[in-house]
Amino acid sequence: MKIITRLALTLVTVISSQAVFADDCTVDVEAGDALSFNTTKIEIPASCANATINFKHTGRLPAAAMGHNWVLSKTADLQPIQNDGNVAGAAGGYLKADDPRVIAATAIIGGGESTSVTFATAGLNAGEAYSFFCTVMSHSVVMKGTFALKG
Ligand code: CO
Repeated sequence: MKIITRLALTLVTVISSQAVFADDCTVDVEAGDALSFNTTKIEIPASCANATINFKHTGRLPAAAMGHNWVLSKTADLQPIQNDGNVAGAAGGYLKADDPRVIAATAIIGGGESTSVTFATAGLNAGEAYSFFCTVMSHSVVMKGTFALKG
């Protein structure tokens, strides 16, 4: 009986690590000294007027070496945003200034730092494909995930 309970708990843990499902309208996202977020899928209840992403860098490297941001856009806009972000470079925060394709973006943070961003969901469609990603030094090639309004 105990073994079965442990197995069930393990399964729950594994499933939880696959996706971050928001209980409410706030989601905690982490990244460390590797090119990945701690989730590849974020879902926000469509009932949320605003969504908040609390983003924490759990690594040790400074922003200049392993900085990360959390950027949200339509999936189709990911690559164009990254391309323009590369042009902007470090001085421009790896994002084109006032890029209208960017739905939400945090500041770039380094190891031990945290930031957050809150954005309105009014302009998001339940059927549209959205992605979140990091634009620092082309991290979005591998550092990305899907975002959706659910319900
Ligand atoms: Co990054």
